[in-house]
Amino acid sequence: MKTSMRYVDHGTGGSAAVLQIKEGPLPQPASGEVLIAVHYAGVNRPDVFQRSGSYPPPPGASAVLGLEVSGIIVAKADDVTAWNIGDQVCALTAGGGYAEYCTAPALHCLPVPEGLDLLQAAALPENYFTVWTNVFDRERPWKEQTLLIHGGSSGIGLTAIQLGKALGAKVITTVGNAAKAAFCTSIGADLAINYREQDFVQEALTFTGKRGVDVILDMVGGDYINKNIWTLAPHGLLVQIAFLQGSTTQIDALPIMLKRLTITGSTLRPRSIAEKAGIARSLLKTVWPMLASGSCKPVIHQVFPLAEAAQAHALMESSTHIGKIMLKVR
Ligand SMILES: NC(=O)c1ccc[n+]([C@@H]2O[C@H](COP(=O)([O-])OP(=O)(O)OC[C@H]3O[C@@H](n4cnc5c(N)ncnc54)[C@H](OP(=O)(O)O)[C@@H]3O)[C@@H](O)[C@H]2O)c1
Repeated sequence: MKTSMRYVDHGTGGSAAVLQIKEGPLPQPASGEVLIAVHYAGVNRPDVFQRSGSYPPPPGASAVLGLEVSGIIVAKADDVTAWNIGDQVCALTAGGGYAEYCTAPALHCLPVPEGLDLLQAAALPENYFTVWTNVFDRERPWKEQTLLIHGGSSGIGLTAIQLGKALGAKVITTVGNAAKAAFCTSIGADLAINYREQDFVQEALTFTGKRGVDVILDMVGGDYINKNIWTLAPHGLLVQIAFLQGSTTQIDALPIMLKRLTITGSTLRPRSIAEKAGIARSLLKTVWPMLASGSCKPVIHQVFPLAEAAQAHALMESSTHIGKIMLKVR
């Protein structure tokens, strides 16, 4: 095996232009880990934040960008029994995905779902782990629920829309233009609201006959926080997974009490290996069959060679994409 590899370096951070290919040593699998020869890596908005300097990796994680990969296991620690050399996997990584080789805990690897290829498989981990644990891994009567998914055209948004529909919920989503709205309805959203032209609170209340929605997945924050609280039905749940417009605002908390609302949220990356392994097991049992049957599927917007990671980040920052932006590593 090679002793050095190509990876994408982001130096001390900055604009997308700082991303460049460098040569460095292969990572070595620690106890419980496998080494993957990476075929594809997914680009995620948190990578953009890490590159810009606002989202440092957790202690012990690779400083290299990249939270998800697919590829072939080429080495493993002695204590790994779940996988063999030569197995094709996709994996959630704590970092290091923008590289020819990447380590991952064996428990965070999943098989390539039946009928999907390595490109599609690399588009799954970050979005499916995040959406499943934050929204759907809960006891709720999904067939009777109405969901509001903000940022519907994002990798996260398209995952949430499809999982919601696969579980029988009604799904409303917000997007920034007509093409994104058309795409979201084409993959199953019952209503797509262009937030630049329409008031999502009014539209969602009209759609639900003034009852409000049961669950909101939000990555926007800012003035959406109050608006989300107004839009929720009694016993509603607001899940916050990012704050693209900031995490501070003045809120009127009275409706939280009057409607018995729950407000929560989480970030995936710093969660323990055991917690993420639990999410992986749950996905394998519940969601991997949905992917194999075609009731949900990753949406790939564009694939860039690893050496064009800067262009991939610039595209993500333009927010003109619909679905996943991917890197082809080999
Ligand atoms: N908590 C977690 O563990 C976790 C894990 C992964 C991702 N996330 C978060 O989930 C969100 C989606 O991630 P992703 O990788 O799927 O991203 P993405 O594909 O880049 O999508 C983000 C989309 O959000 C919309 N948006 C709405 N308001 C925005 C604003 N103020 N600034 C920028 N975009 C805005 C944009 O579409 P419009 O044209 O519709 O505005 C944009 O395309 C990100 O915020 C990310 O940080 C959280």
